[in-house]
Amino acid sequence: MAKITFTDIGQTYDKDPNQETWALKPMSMTLESGRSYALVGPSGCGKTTILNIISGIINPFQGKVFLDENDVTKLPTAKRNVALVFQFPTIYKSMTVEQNLAFPLVCRKWEPAKIKQRVGDIAEQIGISHKLNRSASKLGADEKQLISLGRGLVRDDVTALLMDEPLTVIDPQLKFELRKKIKQIIEGKDITVVYVTHDQYEAMTFADELLVMSLGKLVQRGTPEDLFERPNSKYVGNFIGSPAMNFFKAEVVDGFAQIGDYRLNTAVNLKKLSDRYLEFGIRPEHVRVQGGPGDNVLTVDFIGFDDLGSTRVLNCLFAGELIKVKVPRSFEMPEQGLIDIKLPKDNLLAYRDGLQVL
Ligand SMILES: Nc1ncnc2c1ncn2[C@@H]1O[C@H](COP(=O)(O)OP(=O)(O)OP(=O)(O)O)[C@@H](O)[C@H]1O
Ligand SMILES: [Mg+2]
Repeated sequence: MAKITFTDIGQTYDKDPNQETWALKPMSMTLESGRSYALVGPSGCGKTTILNIISGIINPFQGKVFLDENDVTKLPTAKRNVALVFQFPTIYKSMTVEQNLAFPLVCRKWEPAKIKQRVGDIAEQIGISHKLNRSASKLGADEKQLISLGRGLVRDDVTALLMDEPLTVIDPQLKFELRKKIKQIIEGKDITVVYVTHDQYEAMTFADELLVMSLGKLVQRGTPEDLFERPNSKYVGNFIGSPAMNFFKAEVVDGFAQIGDYRLNTAVNLKKLSDRYLEFGIRPEHVRVQGGPGDNVLTVDFIGFDDLGSTRVLNCLFAGELIKVKVPRSFEMPEQGLIDIKLPKDNLLAYRDGLQVL
């Protein structure tokens, strides 16, 4: 396994770069050895660019990339000991499963007996031992993707596994199973994993840490819990979580967030700030329906709910702002009209110009 370090890495695909055209704005980061990371963000935000810089498919316009303490910036992919899995399975259709898995070892001139043993081990790990003699072209997309993964991991010197949306072309009903399987395969290994996905659920179930990107920039990194409980920006509050975080504007008065006639306590000490207005954010999961007045309790207009199957989301209006409240399916739905909701102080975060105020 290897620690991956970026120092001042920036990428532009233009010949004449300027600040507007960075596909990846200059950034430094370290990905710790043996951990798994998910790179998430909308299309075009630079996820594949980061992966390609780690693997050597792209030589960055500026900066250096290290695997452990080794500067690999100029090394070709073949010399980096990284395994790659792409969106579309990369297999040789004219070969059998066994030949596909053996290919990287044949290229490295391993002894046939050693190859057979190693391929057998990998085939067992990916659960495909009984199909070793099949033509790879006959397999389903999920099995082909497992072979791509197996082929990446078959070498014994692999230190990092890089996957670029490996489940995108897999049927929805197989996705869950394949994700679980890939996770199991990786868990037994001492490798650093970087997994690119659009899908926040995939990211959260897969990785120890998420790296959230926007417009060529890493905006926040942290555990799923960090990103859920403490989004550092409105962007992350909206991108992570479903439904997105609630945000509303309030006036700062005597250390409280004043909205309508109500004064709310918040997680941040507002007294030390000079802002007249701020935005406040709270996750729909943290808002509670509660009868009767109390601290941080608002009387709101409950206008309807969305049924999400296992949960429901109440839509409430207050002072022109929509506040969503997530409740379990078993929750007894109130009549439409006025209800009381509590916005617990510790979960009510403050934002200025889209960024969290601490
Ligand atoms: N070879 C290239 N030539 C020119 N521009 C490119 C090239 N590759 C990527 N870009 C641009 O760089 C930016 C980042 O692209 P990148 O492929 O890294 O995004 P991504 O987050 O992987 O997107 P997606 O989710 O669609 O795969 C985008 O604006 C993209 O159009
Ligand atoms: Mg991409």
